[in-house]
Amino acid sequence: MQQNLVSGIQPSGRLHIGNYLGALKNHVTLQDAGAHRCFFMAVDLHSITEPYDASQKHAQVLDTLASFIAAGIDPKRSTLFVQSHVPAHSELAWILSTITPFGELSRMTQFKDKSARQEESNVALFTYPVLMAADIVLYDAVAVPVGDDQLQHLELTRTLVRKFNNRFGETLVEPQPLLTPTPRVMSLTDPLRKMSKSEPAGCLFLDDTPEDVTAKLMAAVTDSGSGITYDPENKAGIANLLTIFANVTDRSVDDLVAEYKDAKYSVFKKAIAKVAIKKFTPFRKKKAKLLAKPEALWKVATRGAKAANLVANAKLVEIKKKIGLL
Ligand code: AMP
Ligand code: TRP
Repeated sequence: MQQNLVSGIQPSGRLHIGNYLGALKNHVTLQDAGAHRCFFMAVDLHSITEPYDASQKHAQVLDTLASFIAAGIDPKRSTLFVQSHVPAHSELAWILSTITPFGELSRMTQFKDKSARQEESNVALFTYPVLMAADIVLYDAVAVPVGDDQLQHLELTRTLVRKFNNRFGETLVEPQPLLTPTPRVMSLTDPLRKMSKSEPAGCLFLDDTPEDVTAKLMAAVTDSGSGITYDPENKAGIANLLTIFANVTDRSVDDLVAEYKDAKYSVFKKAIAKVAIKKFTPFRKKKAKLLAKPEALWKVATRGAKAANLVANAKLVEIKKKIGLL
């Protein structure tokens, strides 16, 4: 029997190559491998924990759904849905919050980073990882493909699963994270920081125009030396570009170093721009086509939510029985 796999992406802006190489590419590979029943969602409830424009949210959800499909997620084979269309997620989050130690949440580095950026941080930003745990355990997921910034959240999920099972009896499945070879793609403008939607200048977006891709890569921050070698400590910018190049083309870093070791940085960057444009042009076109028919996308999400609700509601009933609510 297939075991379940879950992942989510926040509808908070266009996806970048970090999202792709750290997560989305793997989502597609795992779906195509066929070993798991896959659930993928646009986690809209997570995305409203940071300042946002309500008039844009629906478009952002559609954008994320279109990105999943354009990258290769097939709604016939995977269950693709919107988190808030499955009310069990927020209900279970409340239940799980009753067994979540305050101290564990206080240690979350993403909460510390994000709350430092906000004038007044909200409670949901703090309890964000509890909702994520609910997203995962509702589907009995054994595997969760994510980038490395989510590992701490996943560790909390595992802790909550053990705690719940100890107290109420074996009920929840403990999930394992699945990382790609590039779990942390760095910013083009600051190779010591993670590429992040919150700093768009350093992002290579999957649907950037060929002109933008070229301009951003040519301007990518590197050291002032020469020679293409993989040395993340002393040549973080070049190391990041090598990693991107390797994983976009499925070639090895060694192979690329052998080919480009004496190349000028500008020649090397131009070569990456060329392969990135080739790789993501079909994505950009497909996504634009999908977004031109928002009703069709919404229909896909509605169908996905129906299937997800069946699984999630059954699990929620099981959980409520265990804790004495039913
Ligand atoms: P988010 O847009 O924050 O919902 O992230 C969606 C997925 O992309 C998550 O699995 C993240 O861990 C992953 N991710 C985000 N930024 C990066 C990055 N710079 N490198 C690798 N993976 C990333
Ligand atoms: N917190 C994740 C992120 O910011 C998104 C997410 C929410 C998620 N729920 C999830 C990822 C469940 C995997 C499984 O990227």
